[in-house]
Amino acid sequence: MIINLLRNALDATKDVSSPQIDILLSAGDTAILTVRDNGHGITDLENLFEPFYTTKKPGEGVGLGLAISSGIVTDLGGRLTAHNGEGGGAVFEVQLPILGREQEAAE
Ligand SMILES: Nc1ncnc2c1ncn2[C@@H]1O[C@H](COP(=O)(O)OP(=O)(O)OP(=O)(O)O)[C@@H](O)[C@H]1O
Ligand SMILES: [Mg+2]
Repeated sequence: MIINLLRNALDATKDVSSPQIDILLSAGDTAILTVRDNGHGITDLENLFEPFYTTKKPGEGVGLGLAISSGIVTDLGGRLTAHNGEGGGAVFEVQLPILGREQEAAE
């Protein structure tokens, strides 16, 4: 899931003169991993997580990365969301529950 987010960020910043990808971690009620880039931004937020939605050329992407990633995050009780940054570029946020000792023991 993380590799797909990074791969996508690398692809989106391919033609940018000063490409930048930020990886942020924070923990409060949930654990949050943010992957932020300064690429071309997301053109179709509606279909982003749909299987086989891709803007990449044949051979460069099939459009399964985000569909699979969001499935994995949902299975873990979290959620994967996306939006465009204020200054352009895309922001992906993975929110995961923080398990307490009791829940860990139950697993
Ligand atoms: N960081 C990003 N910036 C802009 N657009 C993005 C970004 N990440 C994903 N997208 C858009 O979402 C589409 C779907 O992404 P997804 O990872 O599901 O598939 P893919 O990268 O096209 O192919 P695959 O991951 O299967 O190799 C991409 O083709 C692209 O249009
Ligand atoms: Mg991908």
